[in-house]
Amino acid sequence: MAMGVTSVVLLAIAITFTLMSTATPQQQQQQQEQPHLISRIAFGSCANQSSPQVPIWDAIVDFKPQVFIWLGDNIYGDIRRPFRLFGTQRTIGPWKNVPRFVPSSEDQMISNYHIAKTNHGYSRLRNISKVIGTWDDHDYGLNDAGKEFPHKHTNQRLMLDFLDEPHHSPRRKQAGVYASYTFGPQGRQIKVILLDTRYHRDPLRSDGTILGTAQWAWLEKELNGGPSAITIIGSSIQVLSNLSACTGPLFYLESWGRFPSERKRLFNLISDSKRDGVFFISGDVHFGEITRFDCATGYPLYDITSSGLTQAVEKVIPSFLHFVLQFLAWFTPTTVRVMNNNCKHKSCTYGQPNFGVIEVDWDVNPVRLRFEVRGVSGEVVHSVTTSLSELGARNIQMKAGDHKHCSLEVDLPWLVRRRLAILFSFVVAVVIVVQVVILYVVISLMVKCHRKCKRD
Ligand SMILES: *[C@@H]1O[C@H](CO)[C@@H](O)[C@H](O)[C@H]1NC(C)=O
Ligand SMILES: *[C@@H]1O[C@H](CO)[C@@H](O)[C@H](O)[C@H]1NC(C)=O
Ligand SMILES: *[C@@H]1O[C@H](CO)[C@@H](O)[C@H](O)[C@H]1NC(C)=O
Repeated sequence: MAMGVTSVVLLAIAITFTLMSTATPQQQQQQQEQPHLISRIAFGSCANQSSPQVPIWDAIVDFKPQVFIWLGDNIYGDIRRPFRLFGTQRTIGPWKNVPRFVPSSEDQMISNYHIAKTNHGYSRLRNISKVIGTWDDHDYGLNDAGKEFPHKHTNQRLMLDFLDEPHHSPRRKQAGVYASYTFGPQGRQIKVILLDTRYHRDPLRSDGTILGTAQWAWLEKELNGGPSAITIIGSSIQVLSNLSACTGPLFYLESWGRFPSERKRLFNLISDSKRDGVFFISGDVHFGEITRFDCATGYPLYDITSSGLTQAVEKVIPSFLHFVLQFLAWFTPTTVRVMNNNCKHKSCTYGQPNFGVIEVDWDVNPVRLRFEVRGVSGEVVHSVTTSLSELGARNIQMKAGDHKHCSLEVDLPWLVRRRLAILFSFVVAVVIVVQVVILYVVISLMVKCHRKCKRD
């Protein structure tokens, strides 16, 4: 016991000295002469401020990211009413009479952000990393909301307060929280472009706009602007995966795939900019995965999805049923998910809380990139290693098999694409038949017994 306390104290002293000897990114930016080389970036999404957030922040701090990127649902700001099929407040079914999600007051939003910001693990991270970010629906203020949401102006201010955006920042005057950052010295620069997929977004199923006119013009300028070795585009919703094409009509997720014209425009913009080394990071879906699409630009595009820091699909069901979710994740077809031997599960999805990691090894030629999804203790549950030369249109010799990730989910044969819905209908049918049979047996036994009793 005494030994334990001593080593904890020694460790604390060691950490303090390490922290004191490394300047924070803000201090480095002020020095300006030679921007610090960035080789470790972490990112995450979907953090319920009222849920315990240990030990995941410790795992993130242990990774020692130089930059941490929030990808949305940084808090859960809206109020979620319970599932109710019957009663005075019915939140689901065709007869529902009240919305399941409602926005909360400004005071409540401020209080939620306060809880998130003062979380001990997150405070430790803010001490050692530059923290930047964008938002998704729940911190924007309402589940699945878009441009119609009335509190977007107020909530933009609260979100930028949470991120310590300076008061004079132009980001406080524009419509939406999109922003771009460039880190690192000349020739080894990493550009991070954070999109706002909420403020200007048209309704789902409209095939309208996600970004809106002004943000498109800004993005075009950013992509055609000064060169960077690596360009990371952060989008709260998934860019490459269009899971809805295979989970519909059972359920739908938000994604760029649901806005096919916008998605095409994004790919064309990247392709026309002739910019190499572009990839996406995303959140939102409550599981982690790495996807890849090979036929949008002249080189493979990756989308590393990490979701969420506290919210995860497996947490909503008892652990003895996790294997069912893992089976369904494996069973649902995908054309873009990277399946390799580095996955914890056969499905190559991860349904427990997780964060994302980007590591760059600048010292090898070609420069090596590693994308990872990591669990709450920092354990790697999925990873992909690639190189900058493979993310370049001019250098890449597409290998055999590289065109594996070229087809869309909607182009899968009907039986494959709909197999989740078919399985679901089959299970429902079996359950109904079994119930009818049981009912039949019980009734005939009762009738028999009744007759027998009468005779006796
Ligand atoms: C967040 O966590 C609290 C406390 O566990 C819980 O009551 C609430 O329903 C959670 N919210 C969401 C959106 O999961
Ligand atoms: C953050 O750093 C400050 C000093 O730089 C220190 O006082 C504070 O305790 C640190 N907070 C955490 C949570 O590590
Ligand atoms: C994504 O799936 C939806 C729903 O099935 C479909 O309407 C849309 O066209 C798909 N998008 C792409 C890019 O395939």
